[in-house]
Amino acid sequence: MKVLFVNGPNLNMLGTREEDVYGSLTLDQINKKITSKANELKINTDFFQSNVEGNLVSKIQESSDFDYIVINPAAFTHTSIAIRDALLSIKAKFIEVHLSNIYSREDFRHNSYVSSIAIGVISGFGFHGYLMALDYISSLKD
Ligand code: DQA
Repeated sequence: MKVLFVNGPNLNMLGTREEDVYGSLTLDQINKKITSKANELKINTDFFQSNVEGNLVSKIQESSDFDYIVINPAAFTHTSIAIRDALLSIKAKFIEVHLSNIYSREDFRHNSYVSSIAIGVISGFGFHGYLMALDYISSLKD
């Protein structure tokens, strides 16, 4: 089982970016937590972060090696039909994760272009959301 973790714009700034909203861990520290849980669960992982919409689209298109994607499209969640179309074009199913609860924030964050085609959405549990997604994916094994 192979899972690709994809993170969108500004998530490379975690650790210093709006810590009250997104927590104090860096993306690297979060990815280390994911790797250690994935090792326990015997799941292979890969990680990709980009601030560029087209790079995220290309990475999704090139994901044929992966069984599942866990994606936090960040601000592109609320704007990107291109990322939605890329996710529709591949075999891998995906889980949408947000560190913050997008429904308790500004109105413009309430719309997601990808939620309706996701397996499910995890929003508001900080970095635990990525680990919860991994747990669920692990439960689908065999
Ligand atoms: C986010 C929520 C988005 O609205 C925001 O643009 C982000 C991060 C989250 O993880 O809570 O950059 O996806």
